[in-house]
Amino acid sequence: MSSRTRRTIIIDTDPGQDDAVAILFALAASDRLDVRAITAVAGNVPLNLTAKNARIVLGWANRTDIPVYAGCPRPLVREPVTAEHVHGETGLDGVPLQEADVELANGHAVDFLIKALRSAGPASITLCLLGPMTNLAAALVQEPDIRPGISEVVLMGGGYHVSGNVTPAAEFNVYADPEAAAVVFGSGIPMVVLPLDVTHQVLSTKERITRLENIGNRAGKLIAAILRAHGLIEIEQMGTDGGPLHDPTVIAYLLQPSLFCGRMVNVTVETRGEFTVGETVVDWRGVTERPPNALWLNQVDSNGFYELLTETVKRLP
Ligand code: RIB
Ligand code: CA
Repeated sequence: MSSRTRRTIIIDTDPGQDDAVAILFALAASDRLDVRAITAVAGNVPLNLTAKNARIVLGWANRTDIPVYAGCPRPLVREPVTAEHVHGETGLDGVPLQEADVELANGHAVDFLIKALRSAGPASITLCLLGPMTNLAAALVQEPDIRPGISEVVLMGGGYHVSGNVTPAAEFNVYADPEAAAVVFGSGIPMVVLPLDVTHQVLSTKERITRLENIGNRAGKLIAAILRAHGLIEIEQMGTDGGPLHDPTVIAYLLQPSLFCGRMVNVTVETRGEFTVGETVVDWRGVTERPPNALWLNQVDSNGFYELLTETVKRLP
């Protein structure tokens, strides 16, 4: 795909403060990205809130024409884990919230994914996964023949050079539903991974937040307010001037992949370890016979990332 053709994407998400920034980022790049739908999943906060927050964010960008489907309310196997301590009780700490302007689209997100991917042309839809991978895993288990319609999966999740943020071994999106992550990584679908390895390099410093706020539009002010409230725990843990920004790296990769570099590796997901459930086991040195199944990105031009985010968000209301 040339870098200038418009890419059709479906965003699967658990908004979530950084998810909200990623969705606005994608909507701002409407000349490059055609956001076909948003599918909400339980994750940072319960499904009723992630499905509501997704619609609120679309309203901020005057894009309530984009359907939001509610998906799985819990992981495939395990009990739900959430992250209100990071994102707030609403899931969008930092900004005042009104009710969503539009209703949910009819039908379950998994059924939508199956129908949309079955009717899609070959390799025509990119799936952007910003939360636990429950919805896509459920769709793949129910209808494996949806794979040809998927161009690639680009996801935020996992960690190797930077290990866990929920346990010492596991990153939240994988930890929240490790069985789902194992299904997705084992699917054979082309995968691009934006792990903690890169998201911990893109820190929302005060200077970067101020530049976003000074854009002068509503989106810049909303994003700045969200980022000021986001990542406080990680700032304290890491002792840095700014928290890591996770989900928007997925959108930045779609728009400017040259910002990143990494390696094709084999990634498997630990689903049984007493202390390591949810770990992404990355064969970085190729010491196993397991074939590479993902492009694992571990370096990013962080200044270039914020330049792209700031310049792109200028196009929003
Ligand atoms: O570990 C970071 C990921 O978990 C991000 O997607 C954040 O939104 C949470 O879902
Ligand atoms: Ca997320």
